[in-house]
Amino acid sequence: MRRALVAANWKMHGNRVFVKELVSGIMPALSGGVNGVDIVICPPFPYLQMVDALISGGEVVLGAQDISTHECGAYTGEVSGSMLADFRVRYVIVGHSERRTIMAESDQVVVAKFEAAQRDSLVPVLCVGETLDERDQDMAEQVVSRQLAAIVDKCGVSVFNRAVVAYEPVWAIGTGRSASVQQAQDMHAAIRRLIALHDDEVAQSLQVIYGGSVSPENAPELFAQPDIDGGLIGGASLNADLFVRICKSVS
Ligand code: PGA
Repeated sequence: MRRALVAANWKMHGNRVFVKELVSGIMPALSGGVNGVDIVICPPFPYLQMVDALISGGEVVLGAQDISTHECGAYTGEVSGSMLADFRVRYVIVGHSERRTIMAESDQVVVAKFEAAQRDSLVPVLCVGETLDERDQDMAEQVVSRQLAAIVDKCGVSVFNRAVVAYEPVWAIGTGRSASVQQAQDMHAAIRRLIALHDDEVAQSLQVIYGGSVSPENAPELFAQPDIDGGLIGGASLNADLFVRICKSVS
């Protein structure tokens, strides 16, 4: 039986006052954990330590939004996996579509970041997903398959024993237009099938979460699907009440 996972991706939002208010709003409801759900908060780097202090002693854990491909050295502006681990970060988002497009991260860079995460015992949350154009051209599965294959070909399928996959159709991110429950379930099943081609056991235990305009309204039905194991929450994670309701809607 797979556990569910709900992760907050704050993106580049917040300041110290906001972060304190938000986490203080979340913790009374979530610090004791929600049955069967792993809960992760991924703040921007400067707030990791602050969030760590605010969640300490509870069940909520820390994640980061990015990681350097390098271990240490002359890489101005980069943050390594060992630095993240030093701040008790447990998960790291890799391959988010905003980084693939805005920061021009290639599949190869995403693979290197995935490997960097695992090198420092962080759990990579690998984001995959198609653009609207690609969906319209019936290429959605092909794109996701290519993004997954980049990892499997380089690292082998067993790395998915300690990873999470987030299906995030690019057209649903921050648009208020979530994928339909059926579209999401179909792609999640496809992701599991693609991994099962290499190893069925790995595929069956892999947490595959959905991201893209998740809200308290659509979360219960999305999370009730057999292959949807939770969500990666952007906009709604910046509101304590909405985020708590989403976490609690895992059935
Ligand atoms: P959204 O973002 O919930 O605001 O659509 C999701 C994400 O980008 O991870």
